[in-house]
Amino acid sequence: MIALVLYVVPKTSQRRLYSFPLAWTSLILINLAVIIGGLCLMGGINNGGQEYREYIWPVMAIFAAGVVLTAYNLIRTIADRGVEEIYISNWYIMGGFLWTTVLMTIAYLPFYQQNGISETIIQGYYMHNAVGMWFTPIVLGLTYYFLPKLLNKPIYSYSLGVLAFWTQMVFYTMIGGHHFVFAPTPWWLQTVAIIFSVGMIVTLAAGTGNFLLTMKGSGRTIARSYSLPFILAGVIGYFLWSAQGTLEALRSLNQVWHFTNYTVAHSHLTMYGFVVFLIWGGIYGLMPRMTGREPSHLLAGVHFWFALLGYFIYTIALMVGGTLQGVSWIIEAPFIQSVRLMEPFWLWRAVGGTMMFLSHLIFAYNLWRMRPLHSKREMPAPQVGALA
Ligand code: HEM
Ligand code: HEM
Repeated sequence: MIALVLYVVPKTSQRRLYSFPLAWTSLILINLAVIIGGLCLMGGINNGGQEYREYIWPVMAIFAAGVVLTAYNLIRTIADRGVEEIYISNWYIMGGFLWTTVLMTIAYLPFYQQNGISETIIQGYYMHNAVGMWFTPIVLGLTYYFLPKLLNKPIYSYSLGVLAFWTQMVFYTMIGGHHFVFAPTPWWLQTVAIIFSVGMIVTLAAGTGNFLLTMKGSGRTIARSYSLPFILAGVIGYFLWSAQGTLEALRSLNQVWHFTNYTVAHSHLTMYGFVVFLIWGGIYGLMPRMTGREPSHLLAGVHFWFALLGYFIYTIALMVGGTLQGVSWIIEAPFIQSVRLMEPFWLWRAVGGTMMFLSHLIFAYNLWRMRPLHSKREMPAPQVGALA
C-alpha cells in the first residue's frame, strides 16, 4: 500500500518523489518494527490487553518514525506540485498519514492511558481508526488514481469525492465506541458511536457511487482486464462490508453478534474483500506500466477467483456459525453446545482459508513475473492531466 502511495503521489503532483533516501529509510524502519515487533510478540514482550497496539512503545516508535518520514516525504512532494489543485487522491492519502500520526500518539502517550474505562474508550478509538483512518482513506485515495487511469476516463465526480472525504473525517473518527456496546462505558458515548455508524452510509454511498458511476459503460474493458475485476470487487466490497459494520453497531444486532465469529467474518470481509482486493488491483494495474512486464493472464484470473470464492466460503461459514453461536448464548444453552455447533463451520473456514492462501502463492508468482529486469529503468513521464 505504501509502495503504491509512493508511486501515485509523485504522479498526481507531476513531480519526482521529494527524497528517495528518505523512502528507503522508511521502508527499513517499518520492516524493522514488524520484525522486532513479531519477535517480541512471540517472546511474550507485549502490551497484552491492547488489541492491535500490542507492540511495546520502543517498537511502535520505530514504526511511527517510518510513517512520519513517509508523510514528510509525501507532503514535500505535494507542496512542490506542478499542478494548481491537489488531486483528490492526495487528500485521502494525506488524511490517512496525518490522522494515523495523531492516532499513534494518542494510543501510546502515557497521559492518554488511564486504567479502566478510559483506557477501553481509547482502545475503541484506536482500533477503529486504525482500520478507518489508515487503511480505508489510503486505499480509497489510491483508487481515485488508478481507476480513472486504467479506464482512461476522468473520475465521475470530484464533488462526490470531496463529500465522501469530509463525511469520512467527521463520522469515522467518532465511531470507536461501537466496539464496546453494552460495556460499562457511558451509554451516551455508545449511542453517539451508533448514530455516526449509521451516518457512515452517506460516506459509503458517495464513495462507492462515484467509483461505480466512473465504471459505468466500461463493462467490456473491465471484463478484458486482469486488474479491474479486483478493483470492481474491492469497490463493491467497500460498500457492502462496511454497511455490514453499520448493522453490527445497532444494539439489537450487536447483542447477537458481539464476541462471536461473526466479527471475524466482518474483519475479513472488510480488510480482505475491500482493502486487499483494491491493493491487488492497483499492483496488477500499475506494475506492468512500471516494468513493462505482465503477469500470466490465466493465473491472474485463477488468483482472482480463488481469493474471491475463498473469502466468501470463509466468511459465509463464520457469519452463519457466528449467528448460531450468538443465539445459543442468548438462550443460555451450555457453552460447549456453541463450540460443537461451530465444528462444520470451522471446517468450511479452513476450506476457504486454504483457497485464500493458495491464491496468495499464485499472486507471489505473478509478482515475480512482473519484476523489473533492469533496476535503472526510467519511469514513464507523468500523464495525470486526464485525471484531474
Ligand atoms: C461503515 C463502516 C463500518 C462500521 C460502521 C463498522 C462497524 C464495526 C463494528 C460495530 C464492529 C464491532 C463488532 C463487535 O465487536 O461486536 C466492527 C469490528 C471490526 N471492523 Fe468494522 N465497521 C466498518 C468498516 C470497517 C472497515 C472499512 C474495516 C477494515 C478496513 C473494518 C474492520 C473491522 C475489524 C478488523 C473489526 C474487528 C475488531 C476487533 O478485533 O474486535 N470495519 N466494525
Ligand atoms: C489466507 C488468508 C487468511 C486466513 C486463512 C486468515 C485466518 C484468520 C484466522 C483463523 C483468524 C483468527 C480468528 C479467530 O479469532 O477465531 C484471523 C484473524 C484476523 N485476521 Fe485473518 N486470515 C487471512 C488473511 C488476512 C488478511 C490478509 C488480513 C488483513 C489484511 C486479515 C486480518 C485479520 C484480522 C483483523 C483478524 C482479527 C479479527 C478479529 O479479532 O475480529 N487476515 N485470520
